[in-house]
Amino acid sequence: MPDSPSPSDQATAPLIEARNLVKTYTMGDQTVHALRGVSLGIAEGDFVAIMGASGSGKSTLMNILGCLDLPTSGEYRLAGEEVEGLAPDALASIRNRRIGFVFQQFNLLPRTSALENVELPMVYAGVKAAQRREKAQAALDRVGLGERGGHTPSELSGGQQQRVAIARALVNNPALILADEPTGALDSKTSEDIMTLLTELNRQGMTVVIVTHETDIAAWARRKLVFRDGQIVEDLRQPGHGGVTDGPAGSGKLESDPNLLAQGATP
Ligand SMILES: Nc1ncnc2c1ncn2[C@@H]1O[C@H](COP(=O)(O)OP(=O)(O)OP(=O)(O)O)[C@@H](O)[C@H]1O
Ligand SMILES: [Mg+2]
Repeated sequence: MPDSPSPSDQATAPLIEARNLVKTYTMGDQTVHALRGVSLGIAEGDFVAIMGASGSGKSTLMNILGCLDLPTSGEYRLAGEEVEGLAPDALASIRNRRIGFVFQQFNLLPRTSALENVELPMVYAGVKAAQRREKAQAALDRVGLGERGGHTPSELSGGQQQRVAIARALVNNPALILADEPTGALDSKTSEDIMTLLTELNRQGMTVVIVTHETDIAAWARRKLVFRDGQIVEDLRQPGHGGVTDGPAGSGKLESDPNLLAQGATP
């Protein structure tokens, strides 16, 4: 890799560095080009919204960024760690340590309390029971649901269920939160609450990447990417949103680092 950063550059390296990601699905004699060469840098502390028509490759990219799937070709580094070519258990370990996921349909276990749902990622990470309980409770407190730990998903509203899912996403203290249409199943008032919460987590230093179909949801982010046919066709800074002036450490570096501005961004 001729132009990848040297180890001494690690401190200023972006959290996400993707180069020329291609993802091709072959089904019988049909080939689907889900990603056609996506290059992207995302700085630590940024807040990015991804938009684009259905089928344009947004979820495919999120799955690769989240180490749930590997690209057909291309390079991906997360926090300086090379991801492509890793074995499944190494991928799972990166996922567990660095990434929290939020989905449109919440993906909580039914008939399982909020507290236990939030504990799950720590079960996989091998955290002891007492510590799990304590951290899960702290995460629920953080999303404003400290009193609801004993409720099962069916006893919670959609917005509350998504808060539980966000608590689960942040409980291992990940560097990155990936949310694929986190407000897609919520009404507009509840969506606003969820975006307020994600903005708050971003202010506390977490890097947040969301996929959304809604312009007013994307407007909460500091940067907007638009996909078309498996490629990024727009990369816009959105000044005045997400606390450009008082945002978390890292946001100020962005405009001065050409590596972080993929494909035609306008500072
Ligand atoms: N597992 C798969 N097998 C085959 N084709 C797939 C698979 N996953 C995605 N695709 C195809 O890849 C393309 C991109 O899909 P992707 O899910 O990334 O779109 P998207 O932008 O997230 O769309 P939406 O807004 O509807 O969620 C689509 O043509 C889709 O049919
Ligand atoms: Mg999708």
